[in-house]
Amino acid sequence: MTRALLGIDIGTSGCKALLIDAEGSVLASSTATYGLSQPRPGWTEQDPALWVEGARKAVAGVMAERGGVELAGIGLSGQMHGLTPLDEAHRVLRPALLWNDQRNGAECAEITQKAGGLEALLGFTNNRMLVGYTGGKIVWMRNHEPELFAKLRHVVNPKDYLRLVLTGEIATEVSDASGTGLFDVRKRDWSSDLLDRVDIDPAILPPCHESHVVTGRISRAGAELFGLPEGIPVVGGGGDSVIQTLGSGVMRPGELQTTIGTAGIVASALEAPEDNPGGRLQVFCNVAPDSWHCMGVSLNAGGAMSWFRDTMSSLGQAAEMLSFDEIVAKAATSPAGAKGLFFLPYLYGERCPHPDPSARGAFVGLTARHDGGDMARSVMEGVTHALRDIHGLMRQIGMKHSVIKASGGGAQSALWRQMQADLFDCEVVTTEGAAEGGAFGAALVAGVGVGIWPDARTAAQVCKPLTRQLPDRNNGDTLRRAFGIFESLYPALSQSFAAISDAGLDA
Ligand code: XUL
Repeated sequence: MTRALLGIDIGTSGCKALLIDAEGSVLASSTATYGLSQPRPGWTEQDPALWVEGARKAVAGVMAERGGVELAGIGLSGQMHGLTPLDEAHRVLRPALLWNDQRNGAECAEITQKAGGLEALLGFTNNRMLVGYTGGKIVWMRNHEPELFAKLRHVVNPKDYLRLVLTGEIATEVSDASGTGLFDVRKRDWSSDLLDRVDIDPAILPPCHESHVVTGRISRAGAELFGLPEGIPVVGGGGDSVIQTLGSGVMRPGELQTTIGTAGIVASALEAPEDNPGGRLQVFCNVAPDSWHCMGVSLNAGGAMSWFRDTMSSLGQAAEMLSFDEIVAKAATSPAGAKGLFFLPYLYGERCPHPDPSARGAFVGLTARHDGGDMARSVMEGVTHALRDIHGLMRQIGMKHSVIKASGGGAQSALWRQMQADLFDCEVVTTEGAAEGGAFGAALVAGVGVGIWPDARTAAQVCKPLTRQLPDRNNGDTLRRAFGIFESLYPALSQSFAAISDAGLDA
């Protein structure tokens, strides 16, 4: 019987399950979608029951497609930073607050102040307390929902809630723990000093393991609910943005991963927990015990492209939406630099390199000569410039890269990949399995945990290149000149963005 590994990823819009064999080939993959609720502007919540139901359907999907395998282990991945509050009996106290929830700016400031200021906080965790992170959400619950907070006994991230349902165990691992903002990534343990200063009881945080460690086994109840054999080992796994670098084969310095999903991510592996000046990047523990992870996350990538597609489609009479392929074909009719048209993609505020919830999108440089193709191209270039902007911070801390491994839905576009090759002036490859996102990395980590591969770096070698593109000198020169202007636009407009937000015009 074929030995197989199951990876399960609790995403924001759905759950993906996939089965791989011991060579890293995908045997089956299945996705079940779900929604999120936005009870107020800037709030994003999800009922954890949706994750369980999504995971049940996705797992049933892969097992139906490829039954008859010997399941060696399970790895979990998921959206990071989410707060799932549980009571004594492990019941969910309220809908989970998600990574893109913007409600807790005041609590992040409170934590930073109690830590003794930003430098002191960086000393404890090597990270800022960003608005998305779990730590600020815990304090938000304490400040705004005291009755519920009084019942709070456990805080888990989304994938770790699924672990509880599958195995009955409360546990997390170092990459997701890093994303709480309460974790000392240098020591790979909870920061007891910070917890003490902000008065968070360490007992509400889960025991934390390295990512490949077996944290439990499928319980009888888990087996019945998921139709899986009882006793299968479940390893720690990893937060999606971290574990998907492994799934793209990015485990060594010199390799850069870019992801164009809803959000845009630029990430790389580190061999030491390098200092994070000003906390402008995210420096987390990686899924191998001797590896760290550095990334910058833009809240606007594929999401900006979806907005453009939806908005352009809504202008016409046709009931049909424009397809992404049609938009990209239009963009390809415009030259590099989009004839001097710029798009600032900050439609959902921004995180990196500008931590600013008031940041807004903008087309800058419009003339009557510009057409829909130029606008489409400027949206794609704007997202690519935003990735390059993040990379600028990485260069400032001495990181150098010779290859980009592109992933996420945006990596399916050859034009978008070519823009990256041209602007970053380096080779861009895609790898097998990378399109599967966090679930693929989770299955690889499961393979490390059950001894199929000795370590994550060896597991990463199953990620074989699929496509390869080299930079075009002329287009690169144009895009780099354009980037010089792009970089100057946010500083020039940020005051106006704040004024627009303050003007109360957002009906
Ligand atoms: C990472 C981050 C997102 C979420 C959503 O810091 O906020 O990538 O993990 O998937």
